[in-house]
Amino acid sequence: MRELGVILLAAGLGKRMKSSLPKVLHRLGGKPLLFYPLRTARELNPQRVVIVVGSGADAVRRACGDEEITWVLQERQLGTGHAVRCTKEIFQGFSGDLLILSGDVPSVSESSLLRLLRQHREHNAALTLLTASLEQPLGYGRILRNHRDELIGIVEERDAGEPEKKIKEVNAGIYLVSPSFLFSALEGLNNHNQQGEYYLPDIVGVALKSGQTVRTVQVEDAREILGINTREELAIMEKALQERINRKWMEAGVTLKDPQTTYIEEEVSLGRDTVIGPNTHLMGHTVIGERCLIDGNAYVTDARLGDGVHLRFSVVLTDCRIEEGAIVGPFAHLRPGTSLGRGVHIGNFVETKQAIIGEGSKANHLTYLGDVTVGRETNIGAGTITCNYDGFQKYRTTIGDRVQVGSDSTLVAPVRLGDDVYVATATTVRHDVPAGTLVYNQRNERVREGWTEQKRKKMMKA
Ligand code: UD1
Ligand code: CA
Repeated sequence: MRELGVILLAAGLGKRMKSSLPKVLHRLGGKPLLFYPLRTARELNPQRVVIVVGSGADAVRRACGDEEITWVLQERQLGTGHAVRCTKEIFQGFSGDLLILSGDVPSVSESSLLRLLRQHREHNAALTLLTASLEQPLGYGRILRNHRDELIGIVEERDAGEPEKKIKEVNAGIYLVSPSFLFSALEGLNNHNQQGEYYLPDIVGVALKSGQTVRTVQVEDAREILGINTREELAIMEKALQERINRKWMEAGVTLKDPQTTYIEEEVSLGRDTVIGPNTHLMGHTVIGERCLIDGNAYVTDARLGDGVHLRFSVVLTDCRIEEGAIVGPFAHLRPGTSLGRGVHIGNFVETKQAIIGEGSKANHLTYLGDVTVGRETNIGAGTITCNYDGFQKYRTTIGDRVQVGSDSTLVAPVRLGDDVYVATATTVRHDVPAGTLVYNQRNERVREGWTEQKRKKMMKA
């Protein structure tokens, strides 16, 4: 089997995006655009993967963070032909096939690339290109054919005359080439065109002139080759991706009350008979069990929910774990390191962080639980605050089983409350409390009779 090398073009700024972020780092389905062609390329098990970077090169490298990539810098973006030429040294002596992909064409499938590869090898071609027939070919290079339907060249949109613009067959920007042909053909390119760039598609003309075999493969589903050049195209593709994912989950037995406003990222998994309300975002490696109910307005990242969990309206969950039958919200914020046991209730305006809360415990109203371990069947009263930070360091609070924390209490960490402790309302707890103990602060509640009337008179005079 001949070796395979991949060149991924990702140096362009993407002027049409009007962005300071390199185009290939704009996100689709939560991941940088570049991730997609890179993943598809990897499915072909290439011996080498080379990415050409230029605009925002460091940021692009960081986003990929992979040891198995060879990075090539194209200092000035003089065109796709020039970008490929920058890899010449790396492929010196390489005799396999080279697959050239665009960083801004995310949806091309492995099977289309395999067809391209097969066609190229079967015909021992110098160059094989992927094409598609688009109803709206605006912006793409057009495939020019003679009356015998033989390929004669490619013309870019901006260089095309009116009759050429009517051609619907377009260049996908994806090519298989033999390296010996490629690098010599690139030497002969010029930049005499509307954009003053060295166009990679011009190698088609070079190949044909020198009598080399050039083949084309048309994709079956033209949507595969759509490129992202503008924010509008990005939004359209995002929508298509969302529809595909949502359809998959509905087919798998999940109810989406409003698929239009349900955003599920690719790695998320959902159990059967889960019901999801409008405006729900499920992201990262989130795993949702069976028969869960998500009322709506949920922003969930990297969370793991057991079966039958109920997320009431409006919650934000990040990097947390929720066991079977727990109820969260409305308006709750579970931050990283939160772990809720079975049947836990977290109510409105409750924030948790690094909080391990045991089975059946409740914090239903207006509470902050940070750096805390809570036992089972404990009740945290309204307005309870764990004071976990003294301005220098964070400390932990540990609360036992069956503890009753009265409303408006402050637990000043580090502090431990044993099992069956009873914290009276509005207590500031600064020291450890042994099991079975009542804790309260000395308070002298005083009254002054007639005070209100006196105050009122004084104010009226002034
Ligand atoms: C290109 C093709 C066009 C094809 C279309 C398919 C050229 C001249 N035209 O047009 O025939 O129909 O793709 O999507 O190739 N890049 C670099 N360095 C550069 C310029 C671009 O690395 O100097 C990279 C970009 O980051 C991008 C890719 O090459 O990932 C394509 O460049 P882009 O400017 O988007 O080309 P199109 O105008 O879409
Ligand atoms: Ca493009």
